[in-house]
Amino acid sequence: MSTRPLNIDPQNCFIGGAWVPPLGGQALDLRNPSDGTTLCQIARGDAADIDRAVGAAERALDGDWGRATAFERGRVLAKIGALVLENIDELAVLESNDVGKPLKQARADVVALARYMEFYGGAADKLHGQTIPYLEGYTVYTLREPHGVTGHIIPWNYPMQIIGRSVGAALAMGNACVLKPAEEACLTALAFAEIARQAGLPDGALNVVPGLGAEAGAALTKHPRVRHISFTGSVNVGKLIQETASAHVVPVTLELGGKSPQLVFDDADIDAALPFLVNAGIQNAGQTCSASSRILVHRSKFDEVVMKMAARYRDLRAGPALDDHDVGPLVSMRQKDIVESFIAQGHDLEIAARGEIVADAPAGGAYVTPTLFANVDPGHILAQDEIFGPVQVVIPFDDEDQAVAIANGTDFGLVASVWSQNGARQMRLAKRLRAGQVFINNYGAGGGVELPFGGSGLSGHGREKGFEALYGFSTLKTVAAFHGEDK
Ligand code: NAI
Ligand code: MG
Repeated sequence: MSTRPLNIDPQNCFIGGAWVPPLGGQALDLRNPSDGTTLCQIARGDAADIDRAVGAAERALDGDWGRATAFERGRVLAKIGALVLENIDELAVLESNDVGKPLKQARADVVALARYMEFYGGAADKLHGQTIPYLEGYTVYTLREPHGVTGHIIPWNYPMQIIGRSVGAALAMGNACVLKPAEEACLTALAFAEIARQAGLPDGALNVVPGLGAEAGAALTKHPRVRHISFTGSVNVGKLIQETASAHVVPVTLELGGKSPQLVFDDADIDAALPFLVNAGIQNAGQTCSASSRILVHRSKFDEVVMKMAARYRDLRAGPALDDHDVGPLVSMRQKDIVESFIAQGHDLEIAARGEIVADAPAGGAYVTPTLFANVDPGHILAQDEIFGPVQVVIPFDDEDQAVAIANGTDFGLVASVWSQNGARQMRLAKRLRAGQVFINNYGAGGGVELPFGGSGLSGHGREKGFEALYGFSTLKTVAAFHGEDK
């Protein structure tokens, strides 16, 4: 347990190293999706608060933060990571109550946040420029520089992990960040700001303005002095952000989810695959950008896989987050309605199995019964659209070409996995699958702070996570010095 409690007042914004009320004096209710009660009120920041935050970030860049060396930035990130771990109990409960995430998953997210800080802390002084052989009389080299003020608009499904991967990489490269967390869940973003303050992050290097997407989020995207935007969320808002950012020709990194398949071949070790097949679909109640919502199975193994997945589904229990069931509530009644309307669109399909909502689940909670559909046509809306709930579809295929065609046959391209013992097939498919990450005989690889992540098509563009993210969160300058020929 931490010796220094976090003591955040969520009705404030964190700007310039201080907790300040939003200028408009407005607040929003934050709900606990496990029972529908109001957890607390949060600040409803707007364009004026975003403008203040951008000003504070600019002052940080002109001051201590801008002057910090790469290793000093790394050191403070590592310290933030250590303090995150010290506060694991408090952070996990905040995230569980706010997101509805089962406590065990919330704890895993705290550990991931700490790992991002360690990773990017260690990486901060290891991204080197180049010297480039050029014309006689010249010395040419490159410098990696921060963009300046970076905007980070994050969703509610994995606040801590997404802060880790985007703010962590941006700070490592010396940017100053303005973070707009989601209105559905923003407590750990505020707690993270307090931890960063306690760790000695200079004032203004990180600013957090909670508020609505259409207000604070839109203001951040439109702000003329924000030099880079990273966004994780829905496809429609991603498109809007890219369009809005184009007004100032600001680069954007978009991570917009997917419809990620797992391909199970006739030579797969099905019992090894089974926990991954199901967990990748129901983790965080399916509200995961990289959720595996489509399971493609060779026809010779189809009945066996469906039967075994169905047995697991029948055991799945959805219940209050702090009780740590397999599945928590969805983040909100709105998300529950969206997911249930998807399930209703499967009325013509075969339901292989459903889990259960525990009997004592509070009536006001946003619970959805985990549902497995079998024999789904690849063109069906449930096999095409991101559902973002504990729902998976199983689709049969006859050969490798058909499997690839189905796997690549959506507008998304985020993650895919191949279950097969055949090495040549593994290599072929790793190339043929349209995805930013391909897993072979696993899925998700334990979170993978170190592994570059991002998609193509409607899944977005740009890469976060791993060392690769440092390139996106910085810009390259080429310096060509003419000093004349050697004497
Ligand atoms: P959303 O895209 O509306 O929200 C994500 C973030 O964007 C939030 O911080 C929100 O305040 C902000 N935002 C909303 N409108 C904005 C605007 N006009 N300008 C700037 N920022 C804005 O997503 P929502 O409504 O919470 O979820 C809807 C669907 O989006 C989900 O059902 C799911 O399919 C997808 N989604 C995907 C995520 C992923 O991890 N890729 C995360 C969250 C949602
Ligand atoms: Mg909430």
